[in-house]
Amino acid sequence: MMIQKLSIMVVLLAFSAYDLPIATADEVVSLRGSIEIDQNANAPTIKRYNKDEEPIARDYIQQPPLIPHAIAKYRINLKSNKCLSCHSWKNYRQYSATKISQTHFEDRDDQVLANVSARRYFCTQCHVPQVDAKPLVENDFKPITAISGE
Ligand code: HEC
Ligand code: HEC
Repeated sequence: MMIQKLSIMVVLLAFSAYDLPIATADEVVSLRGSIEIDQNANAPTIKRYNKDEEPIARDYIQQPPLIPHAIAKYRINLKSNKCLSCHSWKNYRQYSATKISQTHFEDRDDQVLANVSARRYFCTQCHVPQVDAKPLVENDFKPITAISGE
């Protein structure tokens, strides 16, 4: 009994020596703001995409490249995919766009298809355009040397 009580105390002491997640959770603020869950939050401001620029350097192998141009009016739906009008293998030369890679033609069983695989059809699931935004948290991440060449 005594030993049990003692070990509980030791555990409690050990915990209080660290910055417990419970202690920091209070400082986490929802991006939605402190608006009650049954109230409508203010709509976020519409961000202005960066102007068309050169391809953006990748940070790691297999990263879906970031989109270096605005895509505001580019629709992707069941009937059409605006991205493919420039990035498909048929059209990329005409628009000097990067052609989608071979991987985009493979289905989940590694079968190579004649057209873009369904799992790659909704481009913006993986590729995102950029705004000139202030980072939410500081980040000193450096790309791996195989890509950065440093
Ligand atoms: C009007 C033609 C056009 C349309 C439509 C278009 N793009 Fe592009 N895209 C380009 C061009 C041109 C480049 C830049 C190529 C370069 O400078 O090497 C580019 C670059 C990119 C890149 C960077 C490739 C790399 O190697 O870093 C991605 C990713 C991309 N586009 C995705 C998209 C997606 C997703 C859509 C649809 C939402 C889209 N694009 C629609 C013309 C287009
Ligand atoms: C499931 C995620 C995913 C989807 C959906 C997707 N991509 Fe990609 N994309 C990637 C990844 C990962 C890479 C980099 C590795 C590679 O080439 O497969 C890439 C590479 C690219 C590249 C650069 C190719 C190169 O040779 O450098 C272009 C351009 C591109 N995608 C355009 C598109 C377009 C257009 C669509 C929609 C039709 C699309 N992607 C859909 C993940 C995706």
